[in-house]
Amino acid sequence: MEKKFKRTLITTALPYANGPVHIGHLAGVYVPADIYARFLRLRGEDVVMVGGSDEHGVPITLRARKEGITPQEVVDRYHAIIKESLGELGVSFDVYSRTTSDLHHQTASEFFRHLYDKGEFIQKTALQPYDEKGGEFLADRYVLGTCPRCGNENAYGDQCEACGSSLNVTDLINPRSALTGEPVKMKETTHWYLPLDKWEGRLREWILEGHKEWKTNVYGQCKSWLDAGLQPRAVSRDLSWGVPVPVEGAEGKVLYVWFDAPIGYISNTKEILPDSWEKWWKDPETRVVNFIGKDNIVFHCIVFPAMLMAYGDNFQLPDNVPANEFLNLEGDKISTSRNWAVWLHEYLQDFPGKQDVLRYVLTANAPETKDNDFTWADFQARNNNELVAILGNFVNRAVVLTHKYFGGTVPAAGELQPVEKQLEADLTATVKALTEALETFHFREALKQAMEIARLGNRYLQETEPWKLAKTDPERVKTILNTALQLCANLAVVFEPFTPFMSGKLAGMLGMGQLSWDMAGSLDLIAAGSQIGEAVLLFDKVEDDQIQAQIHRLEESKKANEAAAWRPEPQAKDVDFDTFMLSDMRVGTVVECEKVPKADKLLRFLIDDGMEKRTIVSGIAKYYKPEELVGRQVCFIANLPPRKLKGIVSQGMILSAVNSDGSIVLLSPSSPVAPGAKIG
Ligand code: MF3
Ligand code: ZN
Repeated sequence: MEKKFKRTLITTALPYANGPVHIGHLAGVYVPADIYARFLRLRGEDVVMVGGSDEHGVPITLRARKEGITPQEVVDRYHAIIKESLGELGVSFDVYSRTTSDLHHQTASEFFRHLYDKGEFIQKTALQPYDEKGGEFLADRYVLGTCPRCGNENAYGDQCEACGSSLNVTDLINPRSALTGEPVKMKETTHWYLPLDKWEGRLREWILEGHKEWKTNVYGQCKSWLDAGLQPRAVSRDLSWGVPVPVEGAEGKVLYVWFDAPIGYISNTKEILPDSWEKWWKDPETRVVNFIGKDNIVFHCIVFPAMLMAYGDNFQLPDNVPANEFLNLEGDKISTSRNWAVWLHEYLQDFPGKQDVLRYVLTANAPETKDNDFTWADFQARNNNELVAILGNFVNRAVVLTHKYFGGTVPAAGELQPVEKQLEADLTATVKALTEALETFHFREALKQAMEIARLGNRYLQETEPWKLAKTDPERVKTILNTALQLCANLAVVFEPFTPFMSGKLAGMLGMGQLSWDMAGSLDLIAAGSQIGEAVLLFDKVEDDQIQAQIHRLEESKKANEAAAWRPEPQAKDVDFDTFMLSDMRVGTVVECEKVPKADKLLRFLIDDGMEKRTIVSGIAKYYKPEELVGRQVCFIANLPPRKLKGIVSQGMILSAVNSDGSIVLLSPSSPVAPGAKIG
């Protein structure tokens, strides 16, 4: 049953604005979505691609607490970085907005209220972890305790990062608040739940019967959720950061981030199409495609569709949800908190003008059916051996030879020989396979087919060797170079979705106008007699030292993580090493010591510091008799500015240890040293 759609709404998972985006986000969501959007646009289809930052939820508040800033400051910072870097990569959003916008708050709030008024929620009271000292309910991430599986004392209420088990707050032994360290109490609170069970039948039919064509990873996950039976899901939380629950008496409660975020797709569409957005959501001739990573499948295939069904009003469910698996980096899971990532904004700085290379490598290596690995060695190899050596080389040869033999004028083709006929047939077959792969979200395969055209081109020049015919058969050379240039023009078209920067350059070089997908497969794209531009390099080599620098950065990151792993919980703010080293601590011998009159805490010392005798006043009179200190060695700080205490100028500070009851013990070297010996 072939459905005919008039337009396609492409959505891209909204990244949390708690950090910049990295190659995992790109490979999973933004690059494939952009390829698809560009492909459809080249076909002349009506397309809107919406994106935006997910600015609510615990990941944001956690980052804010960690950095000592407000959640708003966190999202302002990262939204700007994310938006700019995705734009620079050429991701062709029609809108990239954010869920803290007024329009989104309004839209999400109205959505909730509509379901509420229709009686689509059930209200339930349940026990939630509560921090009495802080006076607030705690998200699972804010509860720490001992992992029942491995004994890690700092497991989170939702997961133990030491052993990887996923946990419930109630599983933790001695749960405590991450905010105050106080033991966690369980306290009653009321929330709204969306009864997913009510929609189970329709969801089963829609997915399991109606969308057998979905990727097997997506279909399989949906099936196992549905087979396990759906439960009501809480859609509100006791938090202060988020969209307030628009119900009287719900103060201090906000919409669960996974309730408001997908509504962001709607708000963002409204933002650019305030008058026609409904057509993009409610007309059955609109086709919705959600690009996401595999951890988002249940929300997009089960929860959000149930929300849309509950809303009614003909909201369209996604026609496809081509979720990707995960991309690893050099064999390890990408992690924002461990800084194990290639950050897009850093890549763009380190490799200026090389957007296409990253897009190419991430597509060639996309985790479409299984998790995949990004390595810098592979990045370099694909650039040098494929983009430079195959694609760039072919175009360069065709263009340079045209300049050499015909002054840059496209020669007219004579009669085609079997070799050209075969080439044409190969090209047609390749474009067909390429188009089919794009239509069915097999972007790796599609890219392989696109590259095949450049390979065909190289083989063709190798076989026909026009450089050997210039003298003997100039007519033949015309046909060959015309054909080669037509292949170059095909490359400009078919690579546009994958590497749009290169495609633009190449189309410009060949003097092509507006590109469209139906040009692909033709050997008649540029007119004989037209003039082409000088050969510009489409790609250049990535050198070993550039790759070494990236690998070095990752190694540093690994070292920092290893150091952090054994780092004890600090009891004071960090001081950087160089600052600490400015303290001049030394050992001195006590020459004189006496009580300071009218100050019962203070003793006056005269210390031999190896150079001279200095006076230091110290508040230890309660714990030491002056006469027993004479002749002993003490430790002191020698480079403090002099300070006046009870009329006496103190020229340093004597070091001691303080017990928890406040009693003081002087520090001394464990065996005698020369006065003035440096401590360090
Ligand atoms: N912020 C979520 C994540 O990074 C994705 C949200 S997708 C949306 O996992 F649909 F909710 F917007
Ligand atoms: Zn554990």
